[in-house]
Amino acid sequence: MHVALVLGTRPEATKLAPVILALREQAGVEATVISTGQHRELLPQTLAVFGLRADVDLAVMAARQTLTQITTRVLDGCARVFAELRPDVVLVHGDTTTTLAGALAAFYAGLPVGHVEAGLRTGDRWSPFPEEMNRLLADRLATVHFAPTALAAANLRREGVAAASVFVTGNTGIDAVRMVAGPRRRRPAGSTRLVLVEAHRHENLGEPMARIAQGVVALVRARGDVEVEWSLHPNPAVQQPVRRVAGGEDRISLIDPPAFDVWARRMAEADVLLTDSGGMQEESTAIGLPVLVLRGETERPEVIASGAGRLVGTESARIASETARLLDDPAAYARMAEAGCAVGDGQAARRTVEALLYHMGHAAQAPEAFASAVVD
Ligand code: UD1
Repeated sequence: MHVALVLGTRPEATKLAPVILALREQAGVEATVISTGQHRELLPQTLAVFGLRADVDLAVMAARQTLTQITTRVLDGCARVFAELRPDVVLVHGDTTTTLAGALAAFYAGLPVGHVEAGLRTGDRWSPFPEEMNRLLADRLATVHFAPTALAAANLRREGVAAASVFVTGNTGIDAVRMVAGPRRRRPAGSTRLVLVEAHRHENLGEPMARIAQGVVALVRARGDVEVEWSLHPNPAVQQPVRRVAGGEDRISLIDPPAFDVWARRMAEADVLLTDSGGMQEESTAIGLPVLVLRGETERPEVIASGAGRLVGTESARIASETARLLDDPAAYARMAEAGCAVGDGQAARRTVEALLYHMGHAAQAPEAFASAVVD
């Protein structure tokens, strides 16, 4: 069985890496990694953490690229590569432009499509934009769905997706973070408190990003015991407002995005994470790091329902006060830190590969479903 995996951004690389590694352990399976190059720097950096590299690179990225440009270049590039490689099945992940265009190109080529991290929904087609529509359409195009949780599988069934094509695997991002994060190591009482920040979502670019930065500045000005590390996405629309508001501020370090393993180990020693990233919401629950989500909603309700995360939006005063509250209230802190991981158990890549083999007629049995403590 020849599996082509199409990936383009940092989260796709993080979450498909465990799947690629698991595929390559199977006798009789060939896995070809097709990078669209939607993220010129972040993608190779992330694959390298897992000892992987792209076999094919479509190199589509341009500065200030538009969704239309990425989509058309990926469609065109994938069409050429699929015609040459003739894979048996194409895997895509998540909800990026690469995901949608890769799945559509596979459909045009008449190939079956597997969607890893299928079924996540906010229910609002405009938020997150364009990710909610990307994952909806990718799920329509997919012939086999790897839903991380029972909730995601239920979303798919509600939309009329055949139950036989849906496998509940757990989220492969949890496998990835477990491979590299190491043990939880909080600093001793009395040391400075480490707050990590990462935000890049389209709907937070511009004014909301400036408000987030104002909230973080207010936090460090109000408390001498807080130290912030902010991993700055290379997008100029992230860099500009954050540097304008928080650049030069004492105890706020604006850093280039660290490699996935370095950041995961940093999360393991941090006190709080502020982020609008979906993947980091999940990773922090696996680490036991309380996460405050810089959005109004999330397609990962399990993280909130389990108590591991809280939605705080993008108002600066709320960001500062919720973070301070968490740092000052050990009982509230412990409830979040000890909530556990509701979205994966580290076995998701194995289940994904077993389900794919079963779906393609190469295995007699489907894997057991991932059972989460949070079911609705
Ligand atoms: C994309 C995904 C988003 C995902 C995020 C992870 C879409 C629509 N969005 O958003 O779902 O959560 O990746 O980061 O697919 N850039 C570089 N070098 C890089 C990467 C980005 O310079 O390695 C800059 C470029 O100027 C680019 C800009 O960042 O134009 C935005 O990148 P893009 O992939 O369009 O959007 P993201 O915000 O990264």
